[in-house]
Formats: sequence, C-alpha cells, structure tokens
Amino acid sequence: MEAKFLHFLSLAFSIFLSSTAFTPQDNYLINCGSDTNTVVVDNRHFVGDSSDHGSAYLSKGKSISLTNPYPNSSSPVLYTTARVFTSASSYVFDIKNLGTHLVRFHFSPFSSRNYDLKNGEFGVAANGISLLSGFSANSTVLKEYFLMVDKDKLEILFIPISGSRFAYVNAIEVFSAPKDFFIDVGGMALINPDGIQEFKQNVSSQVLETIHRINVGGSMLTPFNDTLWRTWIPDQDFLVLKSAAKVARTSDPPNYQQGGATREIAPDNVYMTAQEMNIVNRSSAFLFNITWDFPVKPGDSMHLVRLHFCDIVSVALNALYFNVYINEVTAYKDVDLSVLAFHQLASPYYMDFVVRNSKDSGVVRIGVGPSDLSSTLRKNAILNGVEIMRMVNFMALPRKSKRKNVWILIALVVGGILVMSLVVLVILTVIKCRKRKLKPKPKSRRAESAGWASLRVYGSSKATMSEGTILASPGPYGYYGLKIPFADLQLATNNFDKNLIIGSGGFGMVYKGVLRDNIKVAAKRGMPGSRQGLPEFQAEITVLSKIRHRHIVSLIGYCEEQSEMILVYEYMDKGTLRQHLYGSNSSPLSWKQRLEICIGAARGLHYLHTGSAQGIIHRDIKSTNILLDENYVAKVADFGLSKSGPCLDETHVSTGVKGSFGYLDPEYFRRQQLTDKSDVYSFGVVLFEVLCARPAVDPLLNREQVNLAEWAMECQKKGMIEQIIDPHLTDQIKPSSLKKFVETAEKCLAEYGVDRPTMGDVLWNLEYAYQLQTNERHKGQQTTDAISNDPGALIVSDDGSSDISSTRVFSQLLTNEGR
Ligand SMILES: *[C@@H]1O[C@H](CO)[C@@H](O)[C@H](O)[C@H]1NC(C)=O
Ligand SMILES: *[C@@H]1O[C@H](CO)[C@@H](O)[C@H](O)[C@H]1NC(C)=O
Ligand SMILES: *[C@@H]1O[C@H](CO)[C@@H](O)[C@H](O)[C@H]1NC(C)=O
Ligand SMILES: *[C@@H]1O[C@H](CO)[C@@H](O)[C@H](O)[C@H]1NC(C)=O
Ligand SMILES: *[C@@H]1O[C@H](CO)[C@@H](O)[C@H](O)[C@H]1NC(C)=O
Ligand SMILES: *[C@@H]1O[C@H](CO)[C@@H](O)[C@H](O)[C@H]1NC(C)=O
Repeated sequence: MEAKFLHFLSLAFSIFLSSTAFTPQDNYLINCGSDTNTVVVDNRHFVGDSSDHGSAYLSKGKSISLTNPYPNSSSPVLYTTARVFTSASSYVFDIKNLGTHLVRFHFSPFSSRNYDLKNGEFGVAANGISLLSGFSANSTVLKEYFLMVDKDKLEILFIPISGSRFAYVNAIEVFSAPKDFFIDVGGMALINPDGIQEFKQNVSSQVLETIHRINVGGSMLTPFNDTLWRTWIPDQDFLVLKSAAKVARTSDPPNYQQGGATREIAPDNVYMTAQEMNIVNRSSAFLFNITWDFPVKPGDSMHLVRLHFCDIVSVALNALYFNVYINEVTAYKDVDLSVLAFHQLASPYYMDFVVRNSKDSGVVRIGVGPSDLSSTLRKNAILNGVEIMRMVNFMALPRKSKRKNVWILIALVVGGILVMSLVVLVILTVIKCRKRKLKPKPKSRRAESAGWASLRVYGSSKATMSEGTILASPGPYGYYGLKIPFADLQLATNNFDKNLIIGSGGFGMVYKGVLRDNIKVAAKRGMPGSRQGLPEFQAEITVLSKIRHRHIVSLIGYCEEQSEMILVYEYMDKGTLRQHLYGSNSSPLSWKQRLEICIGAARGLHYLHTGSAQGIIHRDIKSTNILLDENYVAKVADFGLSKSGPCLDETHVSTGVKGSFGYLDPEYFRRQQLTDKSDVYSFGVVLFEVLCARPAVDPLLNREQVNLAEWAMECQKKGMIEQIIDPHLTDQIKPSSLKKFVETAEKCLAEYGVDRPTMGDVLWNLEYAYQLQTNERHKGQQTTDAISNDPGALIVSDDGSSDISSTRVFSQLLTNEGR
C-alpha cells in the first residue's frame, strides 16, 4: 500500500512537471535567408530573416538570402535557405535576461548558381568573443555554445576569412539557459593528468562548446523530445569494451528531487536508461570498470564534463557504491547515490568536473567501476548520461607575452645599439619576473582527495543557494568554501593532542582546537583511513552547509585529505544539555534556564522541519545532541543521521531504523516510516529528561522505571508527576508552568504521530509555560511567526545579536554514544 502511495505521488509529480515546460525569457529563433514569417519546427516558431518580422535582427554588413534550387525532399525546412555574408555582418538581439544563453548555429551547405556553400570559409564571434575561426563545412553541422551575456545586446558577427570568401548560416537559435544551469560555488574539481586540484575560476564565465551529449544506455533523443531542444546520441560507439556493459532501463519516470537534477538538466529519457556492469560471474565483479573514450581536439584543452546519474538498478537504498574515473584519475571515490540523491531511488543527480587533457591525448576517458565499500554480491557501477563541453577561450593565467611584443616593437622602431642594450636589460628583467611568476606552485596536498569537491555540486542546487551563504567564497571564517586544509587542523589541535579530546563516538574522536583568528572549534575526526561513517559524514556536510540558524550548531568547515575525514564546528563552551542535568558535577540549572534551553532547541527543530532548509528530519534528538554555548543558548547538533524530509505532500520517508535507544519513536520502529513527528517524540523524551534529571534509559532502576518515557507517562496518568521531578526544581517551579510543560511533553509522546503536536505547537506551548513561570513573554516569542516563514531564522534574529562574531560562541561536541 505504501509503495502504491509513493508511486501515485511520483506520478502526480511528473505530470505536474511535464505540464510546466521550460519557456526561456529570451528566445530568438531565426530561419536565415527565408522570407516566410514563421515556420514551426519541433513546436518552436522560427522567424524568417527576410520577412518583415525578422529583418530587424540583421544589423550591419552585406548579405543576401539564398534558397536551395534543388531542395532534397527529406531535408529539414530550415536547411532549404541560407543567408550568405559577403562582408563582415551581424545579427543583434536584445537581451532581457542577463546570464547564460544557449547559442546554436545550423550550417547545412548546398549549392546554387552563384554560391557553393561548401566553399564558405569564415569566423563567428559573439559579443567580441571568437567562437569559430576558419570554419567550413561540407555536410550539415550544428554548433552549440553556452555563453554568459552580461549586457543588454548580443551581437553575432560573421566574418569571411578573406575578400574572395563568404560566410553563411542556415539557422540561428539564441535563448536563455535555465537558471542555475551552471553554478559557481567554487571548489569544483579540476582533473589534471596527474591528479585533482580545485578549479579556481567560475564555470559560468567560460564560453562552452558542446562536443558530446550522450544518452548512455539509451537511444537517440531528438530536439522534439528534449526540454532544451538538444540532441542526445547513444553511447555504444564510445564504449572501449562493449561486453563490459549492459543496458539498464526503467519505464517509471525519474523521481526528481528538489536540489537534484531537473528536467532541464537532462530529460527523463536520459535518466531512465543507463549502462551497468555486465557481471557474468559475481566473483570476478571487482575485476573491471566500464570505460568510454570520447574523442576531443588534441592539444592542451580544457573541458567541462557533466555526468548524469540515476540509480535505476538498485532494489534498495544504500546498496550501490562505485567510483568514477576521468582520464584514469579517480575523480570521485565511493559515489553513494542514496545519500547524494536525497535518499530516493531513481532520483536524478549530476556532477560537474573540469578536465584538463594532456597535450597529446585526443580523448576524454570516462570510467565507472565498483567501490571497495560494496559487498561482492552487490558490486556494480552505473552511468546514465555524459556531456562534454570545451572551454572555448579558456585562459589559464594571464600570459606576459603581449608585453614582450611591445618591447620588441619598441626595439625595432627605435633601433640603435644603445637602445638595444637597454632593451636587452629590460627583457632580462621581464624574463626574470616571468620565471619568478611561473615557479611551480607547491603541489597541493589536496590533490589526493577525491570527492568532496563534487559534493559542491549538491550544495549548489537551488534549494541550497538561498541559504547556503557559507558556500560562497570565502566564508565567514576566511576559508574558501568549506574546505579547511589538514595542516591548519593539525596546528589547531596541536597535532590531535590527546589532552584536547572532548568527546568520542562511533565516528571517532572530537578535539577542541583553535583555528587562525582565534576561532575556537570542535573538530570531529573520523578514524584515519577508515571510510566508515562516510554516509554520516556526507549527510552532516550536506545538511549543515545549507543551514545557518541561531539554534543549530554551525559547521565551520570540513577536511578530506590524505584519507582524513574531519568535520569542524563552532565550539560550544558549556557542552551538552545532558551534562547539566545529571551525571556530572555541574551546578543544577534553574527551571527558567531549562525552559529557555528547551525553547531554543524546539526553535532549532522547528526550523529544520519547516524553515527554508525545509523538511529535514533530525532522527537523533537526545540530550547529548543539544549543546549549550557560553550563554546557555541551546543548539541542535549532530546531523549524521538526518534525512531530507519528504518533498511535496508525501508524508513519510521509508528508511532503515536508526536512532538512539530510549528516544526512538515507537511508530517509526514498528512501521519503519520516518516523519517529523519522530523528532517530536524524541523531543518529548528530552523534555522529561529535563524535568526529571535522569537518563532516558536507566537499566539500574526498577523494571517499570527503566524507560523514562513509559515511567513518566505512567506517573502523569496517576497524577503523581510531582514525585519524579528533579528535587532541585520542587521549590521554584510554579504549578501552572509545570502543568503546561508536562502536558506538552505528554502530547509529544503520543503513540501515533498524527496525535502528536508539530514542533511549532511544542514551541508555542513551551513559551507559554515560560510565561506562566515568569509572568513575562519569552524574549524570543515575538519572532516565532517570522521563523516559520523563515528569514527570522537566520543566525541573527532572536535577541538582536546580529553580529556573527558575537555568536562565535563555541561548543563542545557530543559524546556520540548510542550509535
Ligand atoms: C536526400 O538526402 C539524403 C541524406 O541527406 C540522401 O540520402 C538522399 O539521397 C538525398 N536525396 C536526393 C534526391 O538527393
Ligand atoms: C570535407 O571536409 C573535410 C575537412 O573539413 C575534408 O577533410 C574532407 O575531405 C571533405 N570531404 C569532401 C567529400 O569534400
Ligand atoms: C565568480 O562568480 C561570483 C558570482 O557570480 C563572483 O562574485 C566571483 O567574483 C567570480 N569569481 C571569479 C574568479 O570570476
Ligand atoms: C519522442 O517523442 C515522440 C512523440 O511523442 C515519441 O513517439 C517518441 O517515442 C519519443 N522518443 C523517445 C526516444 O522518447
Ligand atoms: C566464477 O569465477 C570463479 C573464480 O574466478 C570460479 O572459480 C568459478 O567457477 C566461476 N563460476 C562460474 C559459474 O563460472
Ligand atoms: C578502473 O580504472 C581505474 C583508472 O583507470 C584503475 O585505476 C582501476 O584499477 C580500474 N579498476 C579495475 C578493477 O580495473
């Protein structure tokens, strides 16, 4: 039943999506050399540039329109006419939507009495950027570019190479690319022949020419079937060893998730087919990769490689782990689509890499192969689509050669031995300067790391852009993106000094440290060399990098180098909530303080569930995951188990039961369905823990008292709750406040999720309990409403401490027991 429900939803979702096709804001489709007002091709209207409508686009230069005197009945209507330019000539288009545009040129040579278009030879430039030079074609050619247009006109200039030659074009398309088609977040992986580096430039500012667009495992897709009128071709001819791969197909539409790939990134058909490993004998499954060779122009070229994935081969989550290789370099190790693609099967996802080819290599080689993480029985690897785009005018570093030319020119003009010797001197200095400039940079230690860079692709999605302020470079802590060099962390923690350990858990140790700028941090370090906990590590980064909230512990950065996995958080001075309740000798918190802490934590959770980060279920709420800063401000921590919650109105996420004993929602346990109400249940346990100052589970107590939730509910039923509350509280707590508080906790522990309040209700009730205690409104109360609509949520809000540095309040990180 559950499966059916899900299916219905995904169907509804896909119908919804397909009815909202992409409509570019700028959209110029020109049928060159034609006097027909419009012709319709693939549901699009092309305007003739000799017609009244279209002639306005023609700007300067001399040109004529040409019609094929012997049109082939099977040739497309756009190709029966052409515009021929006998001098440098241009089209000019008004641009309303600044940003990336797609520009396509159709060249389909034919011959008429005066012109054989095969003899055309010319260059093409767009807003002064050369796209083609010395171009000629003797069969139909389509050229496609992605181009950033940052002013309100786009001029496309055709330049015949010499007087006797001419330029021509049969059709032109210029239209706005979908928003966020390329995203500049920094930290994209640059795959060099000898390893990985960070690509330091913006992809969107590059002019990209599409070289290959492949529907892996599928058939040819034509513009008619594509959201951006693209053509995708099958991969068969590029497979290095055909027998290594076999086609996987599904007939169900992909499960698009907010933040993942969209229909505009690639159409359904790309994600509904793939190649997977053709494993004949399971015991040899680890022996091979699937490899494709895609020819590119030889020479020192740079390409953007976009890989499309959609797990249509697994029957369950967390079963498929594989590696991605580009030019024999491990570009992404242990890809786990379950985590990357939002804990959904068949959910489209893409990764971008920048690839620098070595001079003599005429191919980009892409491979996928099984990861060591997957069991022998499940070894597999998939790929659904590939796009390779050349960076047309990529300039690595500004070269000094121009300057040198100037000097030489001066030398020639002025002449004379005296001047020459001066020039020699100057040249020498210039060379010296150059040498200094070009000194090889120390080889980055980061080169060995693989994977995180691409995580940014995830972090770059629409869903995150609104919140992901720290993804933009450089972050508030001075680092570029979130990456922190390992060396900095060694320094910060005195090389992981044992004396600085402030916690430990399934994942590894937590160290206190001080980064440059005196920022106190807690560094959670995975067991070196162990990839265990990788999914939690990734979940934590993906969740926390999206969020900045006063009541959620901030991720300052992470490090993945030399097989290290380290998460770096703000340091929380006062440690965990638990240690202030029992089991340590800290002085007991007052009731007012406890209420403030509960309200803070509730606000953090409420934001997770409903704020702009949206639909995140924490899954592991407990008193050790609520941390306190120096002012006892509560912050929710540890997102290793969190899940992105259901999108749309889907009301639950199916998933393996995880969480901590004593806090676990019984309904979740029984039905394996996770909802935000599971967090509400756990929070109810925390409320009783706060009230009674005892652990959620205490095996040393009498049997009926072991489980706090059960025991407290029992006592409440019998009207004897006063007898189990923390003795420190008995004198100070007002009966009305206590009553409100206990009622709230009780509702949280309702057997069925539907009967439990939302975190918003819990928050409201706790604030009410606070008011009953103090006869004053809680100082954060007035912002409650703002929080649900979000902006109030950003780190600032509550008490006006809008300065980040004042929240550089730091915390102790979790003793992660119970994992
Ligand atoms: C029309 O073009 C197709 C392919 O472009 C070619 O195979 C066919 O022979 C042509 N027909 C004529 C009549 O020229
Ligand atoms: C077509 O053009 C290419 C170069 O662009 C040339 O190598 C080839 O010989 C030409 N073919 C014909 C049939 O003219
Ligand atoms: C990249 O783009 C961002 C915003 O689009 C801009 O702030 C930044 O300066 C750009 N970086 C480079 C290296 O061009
Ligand atoms: C493309 O669209 C047409 C018309 O809807 C359809 O008949 C055809 O099967 C589609 N092709 C693919 C590969 O989906
Ligand atoms: C699979 O391979 C193993 C070792 O490579 C071999 O011992 C076994 O007989 C093979 N099984 C089959 C069914 O071919
Ligand atoms: C897969 O390809 C990579 C890169 O070429 C190589 O290092 C690795 O050994 C290959 N794996 C297998 C099992 O052949």
